[in-house]
Amino acid sequence: MTAARRPLVAGNWKMNKTGVEAREYIARLRAHLGETALPADVAICPPFTALEATARAASGSPIRVLAQAVHEAAKGAHTGEISAAMITAAGADGCLVGHSERRAAGETDDQVAARVRAALDAGLQVILCCGESLEQREAGETESWLTGQLTSALAGVRPDEVGAFAIAYEPIWAIGTGRTATPEIAQAACAHVRAVASATLDGDVLRVLYGGSVTPETAGDLMAQPDIDGSLVGGASLDPDAFAAIVRAS
Ligand code: 13P
Repeated sequence: MTAARRPLVAGNWKMNKTGVEAREYIARLRAHLGETALPADVAICPPFTALEATARAASGSPIRVLAQAVHEAAKGAHTGEISAAMITAAGADGCLVGHSERRAAGETDDQVAARVRAALDAGLQVILCCGESLEQREAGETESWLTGQLTSALAGVRPDEVGAFAIAYEPIWAIGTGRTATPEIAQAACAHVRAVASATLDGDVLRVLYGGSVTPETAGDLMAQPDIDGSLVGGASLDPDAFAAIVRAS
């Protein structure tokens, strides 16, 4: 990261934790992080059913709460989906959009773009996710793939929205595999993400995160890279001790 950009460390709980578990976790994380100034902005992304409990437990703390997904429609016949207004009403501050696990379940580039727009229109913070598969990386297609994902997702984003926006580079081969990208690989990809996004958003302000098997042990070297401004943490964020250590390493 550079001194100009404040790091952002977000924990994506995926399909883990109930509301009761979320309350216990947030109490522990608050105790860990204390009342002193933190080295990074901190966010937790609980499942929809724990959003409200997490937001209540985090109230009055620096911990922000983000949903893991959002639907582009304001309301209607979309079984199992959740609108931007519902996220706000639950007390949350934003959402992830375009996580690879959602894309693998059928979320398209067009939906990602529409969902980014709907979230920003509702005043939500957005962490847009992108990343290539192992096959794409081995075929030398990483940069062109990221360019395509970002160009599509950013088509409707305005330059003045950079403050509400972050992009997480999450190579699919590093997610949940224990195979963290090396700092060099992550840096190169995050620099490319920043370059592509700079066509729309001020690249000096935009926060670009790395995600994929981040642990307390790997966080420091990743965060030391000039184009990595934080992390999106899956498995290691389920333990408040480990997540707090990653925040401290940022
Ligand atoms: P892991 O940290 O478990 O690899 O998950 C990364 C991720 O997908 C965060 O969104």
